[in-house]
Amino acid sequence: MKIKDLEFEKFITATQIENRVAELAAQINSDYQDRNPILLPILNGSFMFASDLMKQLNLPCKISFVKISSYNGTASSGQLKTLIGHEESIFNQDILIVEDIVDTGLTLEKIMSDLRDRGTKSVEAISLLRKSVAREKVVDVKYVGFDLDDEFVLGYGMDYDGLGRNLVDLYKKIN
Ligand code: IMP
Repeated sequence: MKIKDLEFEKFITATQIENRVAELAAQINSDYQDRNPILLPILNGSFMFASDLMKQLNLPCKISFVKISSYNGTASSGQLKTLIGHEESIFNQDILIVEDIVDTGLTLEKIMSDLRDRGTKSVEAISLLRKSVAREKVVDVKYVGFDLDDEFVLGYGMDYDGLGRNLVDLYKKIN
C-alpha cells in the first residue's frame, strides 16, 4: 500500500490488536481493583487505542486528553510541545498515560516526570507499541502491547504526515 511517497505492508491485523487490547485491559482491571484511574491518552495517535481499551475496563475511571508532539514526518524532532493540557484535577489520583507508540521515549519521560511533580498518587504508562530504542533505554512503560524493531508504522490511529490513522490494521514501512 502506498501513502504519499512511502510503501507500507500489513504486519499486525485488527484481530490481533483486539485480542491484545483485551489482555491488557484484563491486566489493568486486576491491577487497579478498588482504584479509580484517570486515563491520559496522548493525542493524536492514541485515540483509537484509548477508546478500545477504555471500553473493556470495568472500573470506575475517567479520561482526559493531552497533546504533546515531537514528530515531523517519520523522525522524532526531539522537541516537545504541549498543545492541550489535561482538565481533570490530578492531585492524589492514579494516572494511566495511554500512548500509541514509544519510540525515543522522550514524550513519555517528559509527561511522566511532570505528572509525578504534581502530587499524583501514581503514574504508570501503557503503550500499544514499543520500539527497540525505548527498550534499550528502559523507558518506564508498565504495559506494552507489542514490541517492534526500529520500524516506522501507521494505522489504528497512527499516521504518516496526518494520513493512515483510519486503517484498522497496523502497517510498517517497506525499506
Ligand atoms: P517518542 O517521544 O520518540 O517516544 O515518540 C512518540 C510519539 O511519536 C508517538 O506517540 C507517536 O505519535 C509518534 N511516533 C513514533 N513512532 C512512530 C511511528 O512509527 N509511526 C507513527 N508515529 C510515530
